[in-house]
Amino acid sequence: MSNPLLQQLNDLEQEFETKLNDLSSDTDKLTQAELLNFKSYYLGKKGALSEILKGLKSVSPEQRKEIGPRANELKDKFLNRLDRELKGLEINEINQKLASKKIDTSLLERDLALDQFAGAYHPRNLIQREIEDVFLSMGFEILDGPHIEDEFHNFEALNIPADHPARDMQDTFWFDKSGNDSEQSGHLLRTHTSTIQVRGMLSRKPPFRFIAPGIVFRCERTDASHEMVFTQLEGMMVGEDISVGNLIYFMKTILKEIFKKDVEVRLRPGFFPFVEPGFELDIKCLICNGKGCSVCKQTGWVELLPCGMVHPNVLKAGNIDPEKYNGFAFGLGLDRLVMMKYGIEDIRHLQSGDLRFNTQFKAY
Ligand code: PHE
Repeated sequence: MSNPLLQQLNDLEQEFETKLNDLSSDTDKLTQAELLNFKSYYLGKKGALSEILKGLKSVSPEQRKEIGPRANELKDKFLNRLDRELKGLEINEINQKLASKKIDTSLLERDLALDQFAGAYHPRNLIQREIEDVFLSMGFEILDGPHIEDEFHNFEALNIPADHPARDMQDTFWFDKSGNDSEQSGHLLRTHTSTIQVRGMLSRKPPFRFIAPGIVFRCERTDASHEMVFTQLEGMMVGEDISVGNLIYFMKTILKEIFKKDVEVRLRPGFFPFVEPGFELDIKCLICNGKGCSVCKQTGWVELLPCGMVHPNVLKAGNIDPEKYNGFAFGLGLDRLVMMKYGIEDIRHLQSGDLRFNTQFKAY
C-alpha cells in the first residue's frame, strides 16, 4: 500500500528546492528577511512540514514508522540549505560594503610585494652574526653596553683625561644639564664601543676575551664614507704574555672568514690614547680594487681595523695589574666591512631604511 504522507514529503522537498533556487537567483529579492520568512513557511510551528505531519494520525503504525526519519531528514536538509544561503548573503553584504568604501587593494600589490620582503636581514646584521660566530668559536664572549655613557667610561678610563686634545678626535654629542644649555651634564652618546672595554675589565678577572658590537655616535659631516650613527665591533683579549703576533693572527683570521678569500692588508702606526703601540690595519679597497674612489678617499686603502696593545693606564683603570697582565684591543668598523663585502659605494644607504636596499641581502 502506498504511503500518501511520504508522497507529500517528497513533493514538499521538490517545492522547497525549486522555490529556494528561484529566490537565490534573484539577488534583489534575496534578503535576510525573505530567507527568514521562507524558513518559517516551511519549518515554522504552523509551517508546511508540520501541516503534513498532522496527517500522521490517519495512517497505519507501519507507515508512521517510515515518516518519522524521513521528516527529520528533510528538516535537517532544509536548515542546512537555508544556513548556506544566509552565509552567502552575509558575504555578499560585506563585499558590497567594501566595494562602496572604495578600498584600493591593488595599491598593496603594486608598491609592496610583501612576500618579497618577508624575513630580510639588514646586511650589517648578517655580517655581525657571522663575525660573532667566528669569535665565539675562538672562545670570545659577546658583551653589550649602554648607548648613553659618562665621561669615565668613554674617555677617562681609556687614558683620555679631561682637556686632553685627544678628546677632539671624536666629535661628541653631549647632554646638557637639564634646563641649562651651557652646562654639560657629563653624559654623552658613546663615541666608540671602547667603553665596553672598561665595563668588561671591571666585571671580570683575567684571562678573558670578548667582543662587543654596537652603534656609536659622532657629530660628523656625512659623506660617502662617514655617518653620524655607525657600527663598531670592539674586541679585547687580556692575559699573560699576549703579543702583537697574537693580535695580527686574530685580525687575519677574521678577515679571511668574512671575505672568504685573502684580502690585501697593511699595518701602519696609529695613535689612540688607549693602546701602545697602536696600529691602523687597512685593507685594499674592494670597491675600486685599489685604484682610488670616494669610499677610499682616492687612496686605494680603507681604514678598517684600528687596534693595538692595551695601554697600562687602561688596565689600571680596569683594576688589572699591568705588571702581570697585558692584552690587545681592536675596534672594527662594521659598516665599512659591510660596504667592502657587498660592494656598497655609499655608507648612507645603510641608515636609509629604504626597503629596496635592505631586501637585496638575503642570508648568505
Ligand atoms: N675606539 C677607537 C675609535 O673609535 C678604535 C680603537 C679600538 C682603536 C680599539 C684601538 C683599539 O676610533
